[in-house]
Amino acid sequence: MKNLGFNENFLWGGALAANQCEGAYLDGGKGLTTVDLCPTGKNRFDVLMGKIDSLEPVDGEYYPSHEAIDFYHRFKEDIALFKEMGFKCLRVSIAWSRIFPNGDETEPNEDGLKFYDELFDEMIKNDIEPVVTLCHFDLPVSLIKNYGGWRNRKLVDFYLNYTTTIFNRYKDKIKYFMTFNEINMLLHAPFLGAGIILKEGENADKIKYQAAHHQLIASALTTKAAHEIIKDSMVGCMLAAGVTYPYSANPLDVKKAMDNDRENYFFIDVQSRGEYPGYAKRFFRENDIELEMEDGDLEILKHNTVDYIGFSYYSSRCASTDPEVLNGMTGGNVFETIKNPYLKASEWGWQIDPLGLRITCNTLYDRYQKPLFIVENGLGAVDKIEEDGSINDDYRIEYLREHIKEMKEAVLDGVELIGYTPWGCIDLVSASTGEMKKRYGFIYVDKDNEGFGSLERRKKKSFDWYKEVIKSNGENL
Ligand code: BG6
Repeated sequence: MKNLGFNENFLWGGALAANQCEGAYLDGGKGLTTVDLCPTGKNRFDVLMGKIDSLEPVDGEYYPSHEAIDFYHRFKEDIALFKEMGFKCLRVSIAWSRIFPNGDETEPNEDGLKFYDELFDEMIKNDIEPVVTLCHFDLPVSLIKNYGGWRNRKLVDFYLNYTTTIFNRYKDKIKYFMTFNEINMLLHAPFLGAGIILKEGENADKIKYQAAHHQLIASALTTKAAHEIIKDSMVGCMLAAGVTYPYSANPLDVKKAMDNDRENYFFIDVQSRGEYPGYAKRFFRENDIELEMEDGDLEILKHNTVDYIGFSYYSSRCASTDPEVLNGMTGGNVFETIKNPYLKASEWGWQIDPLGLRITCNTLYDRYQKPLFIVENGLGAVDKIEEDGSINDDYRIEYLREHIKEMKEAVLDGVELIGYTPWGCIDLVSASTGEMKKRYGFIYVDKDNEGFGSLERRKKKSFDWYKEVIKSNGENL
């Protein structure tokens, strides 16, 4: 009987992002980027949300991205470990500010380009397919200082200059791209997602949706450029996904859950279907939002849709209209959600719902009918090194195992799935909290929240487990 599980070209791998792993924040001519201004500790959230005007690092703050796990200098060692696990692909991002330190130069920085040449060559040498996010929470700070970040239309041209430089340079090395990581994060963490600092009294929704329009145009033009420059390229969008359940069968809760989901699907509806959906137009009408568009924008969106739907999945969400229920909130991928009484949660309050992954896959596939790529998933947990040096992360194995089982169910449901890249396959800096102790990796990195540690790499128990998962193409879990 035909094997109905994962196909033989299924892309097993792992996911990283430059801003959370590279470090070397000014090496090779790199310019400052958004995350270089996000400290750990009590001010971090305000910075992520665009509430603090901090366009220079501040004395006395600790910025974990500045060194991160020093992937910039250690990537060969790390790739050797990924190879040992049998990775078929590795999702990385390119730091825009390594290529254009200020973001608006016409000529790229050769040192930055050379670094990524070496990185991609090393992957290819090890038979690891690069999957590249062009912008992962990573905007050159000069573009915020001089143009106000993505609120300014000029960023479309700067981004396009950057992305076409990447396509021309690496056209023989890369096939899979994503334009913006978790593009819907812009609504929830506007500084992180779009370099937006909100001013007192302005209509925040108006600014954010205008910035969204700019990113959507930039994404569509980039998709077009990729298709022209690299004939067999596959360009994806990237959604912070996780289906929203109604807390009860009350139609008001059901409607609220639908609205929550649409807030996120909005971006993908444009990127994948090529049109602003009716519900968004209504929202704009009723909230004094008139998007500034240029002639031809709607055609650009219409004719340059993505090839696949990339998404992260950590948890499902839950919605209610009952004020009492609304008191019970818990953590989630930057945005909080209501506690679902049927689910357990991680130490950071992120609820664990493997079946939700199957439901999310089916919902996205029903909606878009395009291949899906799960480009992030995983459990952020505190790991302990035993006296014998081992790290027994059974909780992580359990989390991933249950999610992979549901992924397989989704495939059996008929969902087309390209691959799976668990997040932070080597420990790295947390995007939401800036911590190191919130670890996702199969590989431990000796570094703590205050920045101390040797940076030594060490395999966890999950390392061998995942190696076997890949070797058996998802059969031995
Ligand atoms: C996603 C991001 O939001 O989730 C990653 O794309 C991030 O950058 C990941 O690191 C996990 O979140 P956190 O806050 O635990 O690092």
